[in-house]
Amino acid sequence: MKKQNTETAETISGRRNFLNWIWACLGVAAVAEILWAAVSFLRPQASEIPRQNSDPRVTAGPVNAFGIGTVTAFPRGRFYLTRLEDGGFLALSRKCTHLGCTIPWIGEEKSFICPCHASMFDIRGAVVHSPASRALDHFPVSIENGIVRVDTRRSIKRSGFSKEQVVYPDRQPRQTRKTI
Ligand code: FES
Repeated sequence: MKKQNTETAETISGRRNFLNWIWACLGVAAVAEILWAAVSFLRPQASEIPRQNSDPRVTAGPVNAFGIGTVTAFPRGRFYLTRLEDGGFLALSRKCTHLGCTIPWIGEEKSFICPCHASMFDIRGAVVHSPASRALDHFPVSIENGIVRVDTRRSIKRSGFSKEQVVYPDRQPRQTRKTI
């Protein structure tokens, strides 16, 4: 009888240990799941991760595709490619220098007119009307073998327009890195 009681006690103890082990496993699984959910939430989505190997230079096209005095929008690169009366190119940021609204080109007015507070810029990006006080930023342009390319990695700030900012098809680009 005593032996039977001892076996019963051992069996109960064994079951308790087994149940404790199951609970421990479930606890570990729950903690792992919570951690995984937290990491998934905090990790940036694939579309948010900058593509390290993608070429930030936008191929705009052949020089002759852009008529004199035209403005061509490149929404993917967030810039306008303008061809000035003297044949030179400028790549202008679409961002208004007042408070950053996206600025459209208004063909009839031959101007960029901001829909937010009505700042106006000419085809070179120079301020015509405030409240913006600074010309539109521009991006480095290069022309190789008659193909116009724009480097969208960084925009160049400037206070106003100057001839050095323009890139011509028959010359090497003279890009300046400093704020003008
Ligand atoms: S954001 Fe363009 S004028 Fe204010």
